[in-house]
Amino acid sequence: MPTPTLPTASALDTARVLMGVILPAVAEGPIIRRPRAVGLAARLELDARAVGILQQLHARYPDGPLLLKLPFRRQAVVLAPEDVNTVLARSPEPFSPASSEKLAVMAHFQPSNVLVSRGPERTVRRALQEQVLDTSHPVHHLADRFVPVVEEEMRQLLVGAEHSGSLPWSDFAEAWQRVVRRVVFGDHARDDTELTTMLNRLRKDGNWAFLKPVRRRTRERFLARIRDELAHAEPGSLASVLAAVPEGDGAEPVDQVPQWLFALDNSGMVAFRTLTVLATHPQAMEAARREVDADASGRRFLPYLRACALEVLRLWPTTPMILRQTTQPVQWARGLMPARCGVLIYSPYFHRDEHHLRDAHNFSPERWLRDEDDGWPLVPFSDGPVVCPGKQLVLLLTSAALASLVGVRDFSVEEGQPLDPSRPLPGTIDNYSVRLGVSPRM
Ligand code: HEM
Repeated sequence: MPTPTLPTASALDTARVLMGVILPAVAEGPIIRRPRAVGLAARLELDARAVGILQQLHARYPDGPLLLKLPFRRQAVVLAPEDVNTVLARSPEPFSPASSEKLAVMAHFQPSNVLVSRGPERTVRRALQEQVLDTSHPVHHLADRFVPVVEEEMRQLLVGAEHSGSLPWSDFAEAWQRVVRRVVFGDHARDDTELTTMLNRLRKDGNWAFLKPVRRRTRERFLARIRDELAHAEPGSLASVLAAVPEGDGAEPVDQVPQWLFALDNSGMVAFRTLTVLATHPQAMEAARREVDADASGRRFLPYLRACALEVLRLWPTTPMILRQTTQPVQWARGLMPARCGVLIYSPYFHRDEHHLRDAHNFSPERWLRDEDDGWPLVPFSDGPVVCPGKQLVLLLTSAALASLVGVRDFSVEEGQPLDPSRPLPGTIDNYSVRLGVSPRM
């Protein structure tokens, strides 16, 4: 008997996924956010609608993964929680993170990054990333150097905010970029905005994947700058750790660095969004301050603030689409998934499932502090062997920044979306439109 293939969505349902789930996520900017598209998504509640579309689809096709009816490629959507766990646990083989659209995106600024690598090269590059980022330790071994950098930049940010009377996203983003450059390259790079501008230009092209030709000369200039930084790496920077690690075959250290710059940029968005949520959630703010006031770790390990950042990432994941591509046919209980089939895990669908999660649409950081794992996929950093190797570094830097801010000042939302703790939080958060009021801590 021939092996059945997986269930396939009708043409209409396929169009719903393309237009209602994938298009808004792509339009908002997978590699660098497009602020106007984020504003529009927030006004039209596009991300909440996307979750609704997948809920309807799952009710119609309970036996996923679901294949889409596309003439030009094989593509599946994962709708069952246990299938998410299977895909993530069985990565990078047969579910490779090096999917064709990711290859096209990364070609613009980091063609040999671990994200788009396979086979022995992936193994070498992944090991390098884990070593430099100290993946398995909650407190990075360079925390004694990174935390003071964060504190200094946040202090200066507050001086500016007091002068002007408020703190808009754009000021926070600039201060955060200084943190990023100092953490990655060292103090000498603090004001090297040219490097950030070059990367952002390439990231904007990356948003268009195959639809834009690669600017090879800009990419080469950008990667040559990184090569130069690694050759003269400043002690106490991530670059210095990378430069000191013995290189395995095919490690391509230069191509591993842009990911740090770009992903640390996203971490700034998480820190500012968390600050905005704390400014509107007095109970959580109180708990955060209790932790900060009693902290004996020198802001290196603040579990509640780390949980706040994770909860913000649950509500508004910065990487909502986890993508894979099968390297060979994969047998599921319900049928066969062909080789070279794209696999989409749309994390907001699982993160906002009100049937399974208590307070699915509310800010409840405590869920990350409970020592219970019921197997439900809350995966802002993904999971399994391809889990984000920068997770702990993100939590270290964001929680240290939040502690430096909420420990000394009060914040209120002067402009931006209402985030009322007694009502469901919106599906999209538009940090670009937020302006926070800043006053001495009462
Ligand atoms: C808001 C912050 C961040 C979030 C939400 C995040 C999330 C993710 C996710 C979802 C993936 C994809 C994993 C997969 O395909 O299964 C990933 C991969 C990765 N992230 Fe992060 N990340 C963040 C920040 C960082 C930082 C700061 C770094 C480094 C400094 C970093 C380094 C990486 C690397 C190297 C990969 C590729 C891993 C691999 O392919 O093996 N990330 N991240």
